[in-house]
Amino acid sequence: MSSFLHQRTIHNPLSNQHPLSPRSSSSSSRSFSLFSPTALLVLLSLLVILGIFLPWADMPEGLFSTVKPSITKWRSYTLAQAASFVAKNGTVIVCAVSQPYLPFLNNWLISISRQKHQDKVLVIAEDYATLYKVNERWPGHAVLVPPAPDSQTAHKFGSQGFFNFTSRRPRHLLQILELGYNVMYNDVDMVWLADPFPYLEGNHDVYFTDDMPQVKPLKHSHALPPPGKKGRTYICSCMIFLRSTNGAKLVMKKWIEELQEQPWSKAKKANDQPAFNWALNKTAGEVDLYLLPQAAFPTGGLYFKNQTWVQETKGRHVIIHNNYITGFEKKIKRFREFGLWLVDDHADESPLGKL
Ligand SMILES: *[C@@H]1O[C@H](CO)[C@@H](O)[C@H](O)[C@H]1NC(C)=O
Ligand SMILES: *[C@@H]1O[C@H](CO)[C@@H](O)[C@H](O)[C@H]1NC(C)=O
Ligand SMILES: *[C@@H]1O[C@H](CO)[C@@H](O)[C@H](O)[C@H]1NC(C)=O
Ligand SMILES: *[C@@H]1O[C@H](CO)[C@@H](O)[C@H](O)[C@H]1NC(C)=O
Repeated sequence: MSSFLHQRTIHNPLSNQHPLSPRSSSSSSRSFSLFSPTALLVLLSLLVILGIFLPWADMPEGLFSTVKPSITKWRSYTLAQAASFVAKNGTVIVCAVSQPYLPFLNNWLISISRQKHQDKVLVIAEDYATLYKVNERWPGHAVLVPPAPDSQTAHKFGSQGFFNFTSRRPRHLLQILELGYNVMYNDVDMVWLADPFPYLEGNHDVYFTDDMPQVKPLKHSHALPPPGKKGRTYICSCMIFLRSTNGAKLVMKKWIEELQEQPWSKAKKANDQPAFNWALNKTAGEVDLYLLPQAAFPTGGLYFKNQTWVQETKGRHVIIHNNYITGFEKKIKRFREFGLWLVDDHADESPLGKL
C-alpha cells in the first residue's frame, strides 16, 4: 500500500492500469465490462483507498486534489529529520501553527525573509492540513509532532483546548534542544523589523522578553525582573531563544512540570505563560537567563498603545508582537493600521507565496 502511494497519484494508477476512462480504453486492447471481476476489483480497491484517505482529507480543496504521493512522506517526517534539514549554523527558528493562523504565519515569514533568516524556519504544524499546505509550497519546512491536537478546540484564547495546544510548546522546544540545536521560538502574530540575532549577546542559556507595558530606561538590566503582583514575573512565552545547554533544557523541563502541576481550570483560564514564569523563577539560581532590551522587543501593550514611546525609540525596534488584543480580525486590523500587515501586498516575498 505505501509503496503504491509513493509511486503514483490516486488518478493515474486507476486510469493507466484499468481503463475506466474513454481516453485510456481507446489505447487498450482488452475488453472491459463494468461488471467484470476486474472492474469489481477496481471498485473495491477504490473504496479501500477512500476509506484510508478520508480521515486525512480535512483540507478545503477536497480529497482528490490533496491526495498526492508526497503526503505519506510528510506524515512520517520526524522532528529530527526536519531540524537537520532546516538548521543553519546549529540553529533553527520555530513556530507552532494551526490552520486558522496561516495568514499570520505568512506575514511573519515575509518579515523574516526580509532579514534573510527564512531558511532556518521550521513550522511545527498542529494539524495535518497545515503540514501538507506548508510542505507543498515549501518542502521540508513543516513537521507534525504526533498526536495532532484536536483542531476544533485549539484556537480560542483562554480555553482548555488553547491551553492543551500551547502546552505542547515546551515539549517541542526540549526535543529540539535534545537533538543538539539552538532554537528561537516565535509566536506568529509577530513581525520582524530587524535581525534579532545580533541581540543574542554572550553565551547565556535562555533569552526572553518582558510582557509588561511599563516603560523602562533604555539601559535596563538584563537580569530576570522582580516578581509582579501575582508573585511572579510577566516574561512573554512568545519569543524565546534557547541555546542547546543543560540550563536551557532544565527550564523546559521545569516548564513542562509546572504545566502538569497547574493544569487548566475554568476559573483561571490560564495559558502556558504563567508556568513559564514559574519555571524561570525556580531555575533562576542554576540557569543563565538574559532579558532582551525592551526598546528592541516591546510588548504589544507598549508598542501599539504609546506613540510617544514609539517615537522616542524609533529605529531601535526589532520584533513587534501583536498581543494585548484577542481575535484574528482585531489583530489583522491593528497590523494594517500600523503598516505591519504585509500579506496583502508582499505575499511574493514569502516562501509560501500567496495563500
Ligand atoms: C553562527 O553561530 C555563532 C555562534 O552562535 C555566531 O557567532 C555566528 O555569527 C553565526 N554565524 C552565522 C553565519 O550565522
Ligand atoms: C485537554 O487535555 C486534557 C488532558 O490531556 C484532556 O482531558 C482534555 O479533553 C483536553 N481538552 C481539549 C478541549 O482538548
Ligand atoms: C521567585 O518567586 C518568589 C515568590 O514570588 C519570590 O519571592 C522570589 O524572589 C522569586 N525568585 C526570583 C529569582 O525571581
Ligand atoms: C508613554 O511613553 C512615554 C515616553 O517613554 C512615557 O513617559 C509615558 O509614561 C508612557 N505612558 C504610559 C501610559 O505608559
